[in-house]
Amino acid sequence: MDIPRIYNITESAHRIHNPFTPEKYATLGRVLRLKPETRVLDLGSGSGEMLCTWARDYKITGTGIDMSQLFSEQAILRAQDLGVADQVNFIHGDAAGYVAVEKVGVAACVGATWIGGGVAGTIELLAKSLSPEGIILIGEPYWLQLPPSEDVAKGCCANSISDFLVLPELIASFGDLGYDVVEMVLADQEGWDRYEAAKWLTMRNWLKENPDDDFAKEVRAQLTSEPKRYATYTRAYLGWGVFALMAR
Ligand SMILES: C[S@@+](CC[C@H](N)C(=O)[O-])C[C@H]1O[C@@H](n2cnc3c(N)ncnc32)[C@H](O)[C@@H]1O
Repeated sequence: MDIPRIYNITESAHRIHNPFTPEKYATLGRVLRLKPETRVLDLGSGSGEMLCTWARDYKITGTGIDMSQLFSEQAILRAQDLGVADQVNFIHGDAAGYVAVEKVGVAACVGATWIGGGVAGTIELLAKSLSPEGIILIGEPYWLQLPPSEDVAKGCCANSISDFLVLPELIASFGDLGYDVVEMVLADQEGWDRYEAAKWLTMRNWLKENPDDDFAKEVRAQLTSEPKRYATYTRAYLGWGVFALMAR
């Protein structure tokens, strides 16, 4: 079981697999006023940076589930490096349908809401693991400005304009689902650049090391086209943020 190989190649050197920087994750942990020993569940935990740094800085405990074998292994190593291996647990697996045995204070899905079939389904899934008065975290893209055409939306790697909302509508949609938005931390362009541009050097290095790999043609094509695509579309049209929600 694994995610498509292209992500394991292009994001192999990432600690954070979304447009957040380490500072943004630290801010998010701080503004949530996390208490020591708060249990945190993270569906699509990537290389574990959120759980590992919050375990170090805010003394939380946590479980992360991720479908990438590579990212899951990196998460375990990161926990060891930060000295928090006894506080966090990483499971390699499909998080679809995952419900924690013990209820958690924070249930998160930060950049992988397809796991629950979209934002509403993911909130419903996370709610099954949540203690009363617990906080749900949803990391999700939104349109900075509405794309003028479906082609522009596709340039942003969306299937269609309707995949995402503009920020006020996204926030309103959480209310429509019966949740208060109690905090939010939004990515900035530096975070987007770190997420997207960091893939380019990784691809370049990978091509040097794997010139005869079956995937070399695909990686070469991405390295050639991605910088311009990103600057033309994603950088101009897409925002991203993490929204903290509490049931009304
Ligand atoms: C955009 S990344 C976000 C990762 C992480 N939350 C972070 O902040 O670095 C999406 C993650 O979801 C994982 N993923 C994709 N489908 C999944 C599934 N069905 N179950 C568990 N993880 C999944 C990917 O491997 C990837 O690590």
